[in-house]
Amino acid sequence: MTSSAPSTQLSASARLSAAPAAYPAPMYPHKATEAQHREQRIRSFQPRRGRMTKAQAGALDRGWERFGLAIDGTPLDLPELFAGRPVTLEIGFGMGDTTAAMAAADPSAGILAADVHTPGHGNLLQFLERDGSENVRLAAGDAVILLRDMLPDASLAGLRVYFPDPWPKPKHHKRRLLQASFLDLVLPRLAPGALVHCATDWEPYAEQMLEVLGASPELENLHPEGDGSGWLEPDGHPAGSVPGYAPRPDWRPVTKFERAGLAKGHVVHDLLFRRR
Ligand SMILES: C[S@@+](CC[C@H](N)C(=O)[O-])C[C@H]1O[C@@H](n2cnc3c(N)ncnc32)[C@H](O)[C@@H]1O
Repeated sequence: MTSSAPSTQLSASARLSAAPAAYPAPMYPHKATEAQHREQRIRSFQPRRGRMTKAQAGALDRGWERFGLAIDGTPLDLPELFAGRPVTLEIGFGMGDTTAAMAAADPSAGILAADVHTPGHGNLLQFLERDGSENVRLAAGDAVILLRDMLPDASLAGLRVYFPDPWPKPKHHKRRLLQASFLDLVLPRLAPGALVHCATDWEPYAEQMLEVLGASPELENLHPEGDGSGWLEPDGHPAGSVPGYAPRPDWRPVTKFERAGLAKGHVVHDLLFRRR
């Protein structure tokens, strides 16, 4: 074993204190292979620095074996992992508050929660422990690889992408997750009737989402009539709904990034589509 290889002997917190970098490689149970580093695929996440708190590292120690999954290319048996529950994939759960709240609100539904952000892993595990939730599995790594290599066809009852990184600069638009090639990867994994739910506070990305999802004949927009927001024309005249967007579902809690967007005066759009 090389010094950078994951150790099963040390606790997460011991590995953390032994490691020099802010993002110590051993915190990930799987290191991307050379081939994964080089391959052409959407790189939708920002490399973020951040340290685990002691509490997060402790939750990782206690909860990883039970709840954690390495995104290492190994095909998953979702009925076994989720005891037969229908499974929704959530990509980019961030610090996990929304994931934990939605899991606690409906224990009969499974959530496969994916993120690359290490402190968020510990944070989500803290919430699951606190709530006694059994219906979540934490997939650590790039969800694009998870979708491409690890999920069988028609295995998902839903997909959630809440406030994905907006990549606002034109030269970075290719890094946005919601684009046609991503949908090509997602569609075969969705069972008929699966719900696709996206939300963003970045208007141009909301328009892109609507265009990409709306262009697929395999998806039905559940709210073609619009969100019922009653937005106003510049002269104050009520103009009605914004077509294509969904009214905010009351079962989606306000997320951390959403709160930040709202504080800046951004408008939030939800999109709800169903796999035909
Ligand atoms: C802007 S944050 C939003 C977090 C959370 N959904 C919220 O609303 O507070 C986007 C998250 O998506 C994660 N992410 C982006 N691309 C990803 C990918 N391909 N696989 C897994 N996670 C990804 C990032 O690490 C980050 O935590």
